[in-house]
Amino acid sequence: MKIGNKVEEAVNKQVNAELYSAYLYLGMSARCTELNLKGMAHWLYVQAQEEMTHAMKFYRFILERNGHAVMPGIEGVSTDWKTPLQMFETAYAHEQKVTALINNIMDIALAERDHATASMLNWFVDEQVEEEANSSEIAEKLKLIGESKEGLFMLDKELSVRVFVDSTLPAGGAQA
Ligand code: FEO
Repeated sequence: MKIGNKVEEAVNKQVNAELYSAYLYLGMSARCTELNLKGMAHWLYVQAQEEMTHAMKFYRFILERNGHAVMPGIEGVSTDWKTPLQMFETAYAHEQKVTALINNIMDIALAERDHATASMLNWFVDEQVEEEANSSEIAEKLKLIGESKEGLFMLDKELSVRVFVDSTLPAGGAQA
């Protein structure tokens, strides 16, 4: 069934919001590289890659449902962050906003009785729990570390091992 106008508009906005998320994390990653925090830079770069897959999942969905994709501009982001804590607190606040956006699309989809969109969104509802937890956990660790250079070094090392996986694709399947 063709996607309805209200859901189409909301999903299009979400493509933009996810691309903005990728951009936001890329700006943070660049700043961490400048600050010589290579592990954090890597973690944030992987996060930017994940956000791109989120955008593509919404984008593909619009086209699969015979909708019309629109491509408005993406807002600019900062690359002048002062501290890692400032970045990860911003990331946590940002993820909470994204959760609210996803919940809003779900409300629209349910009001329109668009069960296909609601089903697709369930993946994002679960994903947002993890997204919020990840950024919040790192922000909390940074608060515990405080001014300790050793603590920062250890956390940076811990974050360097993150591996990018496109979890929006079916297991083992490549996107056609
Ligand atoms: Fe795509 Fe971080 O939410």
